[in-house]
This record gives sequence, structure tokens and C-alpha cells, in this order.
Amino acid sequence: MRNPVLGLLLWSVMHTSTVWAQDLEVLHWWTSGGEAQSVAVLKKVFKEKSGATWKDFNIAGGAGENALKVLKTKALAGHPPAAVQMKGPQIQDWGKMGLLTSINDLAKREQWDEKLPKEIANAVKYNNNWVAVPFNVHRINWVWVNPKVLAQAKAKVPTTLAELFETADKIKKIGLLPFAHGGQAWQDATVFEELLLAIAGPDLYRKALVQLDPKALQSPEVKATFEALRQYSSYLDKNRKGLDWDKATRLVMDGKAGMQFMGDWAKGEFIAAGKHPGKDFLCIPVPGSEDSFIYNVDSFAFFETKSKNTKKNQEQLAAIIMDEAFQKTFNVKKGSIPAVPTTKMEDFDSCAKASMESFVKTSKTTGQVPSMAHQMASSSEVMQAVYDVVEAHINSNMSADEAVKRLAKSIREATM
Ligand code: BGC
Repeated sequence: MRNPVLGLLLWSVMHTSTVWAQDLEVLHWWTSGGEAQSVAVLKKVFKEKSGATWKDFNIAGGAGENALKVLKTKALAGHPPAAVQMKGPQIQDWGKMGLLTSINDLAKREQWDEKLPKEIANAVKYNNNWVAVPFNVHRINWVWVNPKVLAQAKAKVPTTLAELFETADKIKKIGLLPFAHGGQAWQDATVFEELLLAIAGPDLYRKALVQLDPKALQSPEVKATFEALRQYSSYLDKNRKGLDWDKATRLVMDGKAGMQFMGDWAKGEFIAAGKHPGKDFLCIPVPGSEDSFIYNVDSFAFFETKSKNTKKNQEQLAAIIMDEAFQKTFNVKKGSIPAVPTTKMEDFDSCAKASMESFVKTSKTTGQVPSMAHQMASSSEVMQAVYDVVEAHINSNMSADEAVKRLAKSIREATM
């Protein structure tokens, strides 16, 4: 198929005709090694508990870029999948269209309001109705480090952005790749928001990327972020276009690259490959952002259905996702921390424990901010505007001044 989007659409239409009432069609983008192992846990428990068939509708593509396009076509054609991986503002958008179904009875029976932190509960409710369930909290502002590469380069684990680039220089000198980075817009935007947090702090991050305040968007800190991004991009592989994030993680794992900026689903890849934190890899907060936390909550939303069977299966799936034993098994593999805070943390590794500690700490300060690059902070139009400008900047010699101007303009247009 020459046109990948057309291919995806065709596949999705063909797919529709094969869904039976006893099936539950689930659209998600968890296809990398670690992601597939995590979602396999859910498939297994769902099959055991419901006796129904999980109709897997997976659309590869990090951050759900492709999955979201397919969802739009299917849902607007009147054939939405029963359960869909979806987050933040998009849950609100689909809720507004009247296409999501409420699972309030189940939520009430199981006392979810008491079980979940308010912010997470609010993110999966539309108009005070439970229309989705949360799996986890991913922390975005991490750097994944191969300690053997650093030792080889005689470089130290960086604690400031200046040190980060010194370490990068040393890795470059021994002929290895300082940063593994896949060439896709969402990966560029992920690094952009991580650098912005480190340089500008959480308050300005919030003003710029959540409140879309024009003054904050044109502040010296946003300019400094584009400058840092320029410096960062000088260490990347020129042939990275189209490289998936998990292939980039593999480069760090295999000692071909020293570091990767990525959310902690990257840890899921290390774990799936049998690697151990502290020994085979290190997780360090992006230097400068230690006291802050960019959060990203994965959830499944449920679409309205006329079938009683489907409704029953949707509720069964939701109940499993909210179960503490499932939250533990799933998140140990996925790299994230559980959304249900009473889940026991003993079996989690040191990176997850550090993430939980930071999550609890930052919930008492202004240090928690939602991820723009991962659909938690804004409409998909605004997110796309940021993707486009950051991608154009990283792949050209656009000045930081020009990038700031374009960013403010594109965001203004996306909100008109
Ligand atoms: C999702 C993660 C996923 C990652 C890479 C993020 O937006 O929240 O669950 O692993 O994208 O696809």
C-alpha cells in the first residue's frame, strides 16, 4: 500500500465487518516489545474473566499518532470500537460529541471516587460521568542512560544541562551516538517539552503549553529551549528519519548510543529485554527538572453501544483495569506507576519507586504538569501545531527567534 493512511483506513473498514456481539473490539497503539507484553496481561485476564474474545485492533505508531486518525474515521462513520486507548482532552472531545458511554453504576459499586486521586478521576470523567478508566501514570521527564557507554567515554552522569552536553561531547569523541532519537514529530515534541520544563520550570511550562498564554509562549525561556534543542539536535544521527522510539531505546541498550530522552515506557523495553535498572541502564530526571513531573495517564474510553453483551464486556474490562493486582502486574511491565494509589509498590523497580516518590511530592507543590506531546494538555489541533513547529525547527537551521514566532502564531491559529 503506497499511502499508509489510506492503508490504515481500508484495513479499519474491512475490520468492522468481522466484529461479533461476543467480541470486544479494542483500539490501542501498544505494539512495541514492552507494550505488547503489558497489554497481553490484560488480554489474558479479560479472556479468563469474561469468556469473550478480545478483538485486537492495534495501530502501530508511538504516542498514538496513527491510532487517533483511524479512530476518527471509524467513529465518524458510525463504527467506533467498544474500547479505545485515549487520554485527557480527547476524552472530553468525544464526550461532548455524545459518543462515549457511562460506566457510573460500576464506578459507584466499586467506589472509584474514593479509590482514585481527584485529578486522575477528573481526567477520565466527562460531565461528571465515568466514561474511561486509567491504567497508570507515566513520567515523561526522564533520560535513559547506558552506564557502560559513559564509563567508556570517561563521562559522568549529568546533573545539569551543561553537564549533559559535556557528557554528550565525550560520547561523541569515542565514536558513539550521544543521544538516540527517532525522527518522528511526537519524539521531537517530547524532547521539546522536557527541555522547556528543565529550563523554564513548571509554572512557565503551564502558562505556555496549557494556558497557551501568548506572553509565555514568546518568553526568553521558550527561546532558550529552542536554543537547547538546536544544541541537542547536533548530537543526533542524521539518518534518524522515521526511526521508532523503541528502536532508539534499543540503541542505548546495545551500547551504540549513550542516552535517550523518553517517557518511562522506554523502561518497559529494557525490562522486556531482561535488563536491570542501576546495572544495565540508569533512569535520571532530565537535569534541571528533578523537582517536577510531566505526567501522562493512559486510559481506555468506552464508546456507546446498543448491545447489552458489549456493555457487559466493557464493564468487565473496566473492572479488571481498576483492580490493584492488575495495576501492579501491568505497570511493572509497562514502566509506569499505578493510577490506583493503594497498589503495593514492593515489586516495582527503583525507577518506578523514584517516579512514585516524585509524583507524591509534586502533587503537594506546583511541580506537576500535563504532557503536551502526549495529548494530556491541549486539543489535538494545538498539539499538532506544536509538533509541526518543533519538527520544522529540529530538521532545519531555523533560528530560535523564528521558531518562537512561528510557535506563537501556529498556536494562535489552532485556537481560532
Ligand atoms: C503512551 C504510552 C506509550 C507511548 C509510546 C504514549 O503516548 O501514553 O503508553 O507507550 O506513547 O507509544
